[in-house]
Amino acid sequence: MSFTPVRIGLIGAGRIGASHASVIARRVPEAQLVAVADPRPGVAADLAEPLGARGETSPEAIFAADDVDAVVIAASSTAHAELIVAAADAGKHVFSEKPAGMSLAEIEQGITATAKAGVAFQVGFNRRFAADFRAAHDAIAAGRIGTVRQLRSVTRDPGSGPADPDVVPPWTIFTQTLIHDFDTLNWLNPGARAVDVVATADSLTAPGHPTLLDHANVVIRFDNGAIATAEASFAAAYGYDVRGEVLGSAGMVTAGEGATSSMRLHDASGRLAATAHGDVELMIDAYTAEFAEFAAAILEGRTPSVTGDAARAAFAIAQACIESYQSGTRAKVQG
Ligand SMILES: NC(=O)c1ccc[n+]([C@@H]2O[C@H](COP(=O)([O-])OP(=O)(O)OC[C@H]3O[C@@H](n4cnc5c(N)ncnc54)[C@H](O)[C@@H]3O)[C@@H](O)[C@H]2O)c1
Repeated sequence: MSFTPVRIGLIGAGRIGASHASVIARRVPEAQLVAVADPRPGVAADLAEPLGARGETSPEAIFAADDVDAVVIAASSTAHAELIVAAADAGKHVFSEKPAGMSLAEIEQGITATAKAGVAFQVGFNRRFAADFRAAHDAIAAGRIGTVRQLRSVTRDPGSGPADPDVVPPWTIFTQTLIHDFDTLNWLNPGARAVDVVATADSLTAPGHPTLLDHANVVIRFDNGAIATAEASFAAAYGYDVRGEVLGSAGMVTAGEGATSSMRLHDASGRLAATAHGDVELMIDAYTAEFAEFAAAILEGRTPSVTGDAARAAFAIAQACIESYQSGTRAKVQG
């Protein structure tokens, strides 16, 4: 089948923006990177030019460009909501990194603006595109484990904790890290809605820090009776660790092993597996697949498989976690 690639303008040339630019330019035939924007002088051009694209210093240049069909937003989280609305108002299809806003109201604005403009809107829940998580989802959806009863999702960031706890925005562990787990749990429990949460969190790498929360455990109850645990740490000495597990009435599925390959080194110290030490290393194929989905949805004129509704549902759980942490009691998830 022949097609004209979707022309992409990427906004935000930081750590993940640099990876996304390279993935789009080199690994997704259905997409073409044409421009990158970032306000930091020279950064966008340095990233874009070796990839055959141009650099801009403002997102407005991307929104005004006739040769841009779709925008990928990888800017800092606080900028997402405004950029989503501006991109939609300019008639561009929108992919936004998570979270799609810093409040439910902000996420709603993006959903409304993209619907009004009639453009595609996809959110960066890349775990849905990892082959093992996808296979787990498909097995659950096909009824292979029966009725879903108990779920678990884990995210551990590599290293020994934040180098400077003061620069970690408050609530990051819920709104930016566990947001992946909340979406994964929603997706692995098809058709169910989260009802309420109990969240416990603390600063264990910088004890007593006034705002840092670097470890969290959350218990979520769903309206189909299932109970889930979401767990995050900012300090896994052994690497980046992302796992899921779902127990049903007829069996169990697991996803995510953390190992970079199935090779095991057997020596005097035991049986050893190499682990990934970063999200890009572990998730590069998932990032590739999510952009392939975004481009395919645009080319086929259909809704992408991960929508603004998923962004809202996951953020509603994060919001309830903040309330539960503050009150020390169970908090309802806004429907
Ligand atoms: N899905 C994932 O696995 C994943 C992984 C990492 C980061 N993220 C998300 O990606 C986003 C970026 O994360 P990062 O680690 O690359 O951050 P970063 O701080 O390294 O980069 C952010 C970049 O955005 C730019 N920026 C800020 N405001 C902007 C604006 N209004 N317009 C254009 N550019 C702007 C900054 O100059 C910077 O270059 C965050 O929202 C984060 O939650 C997602």
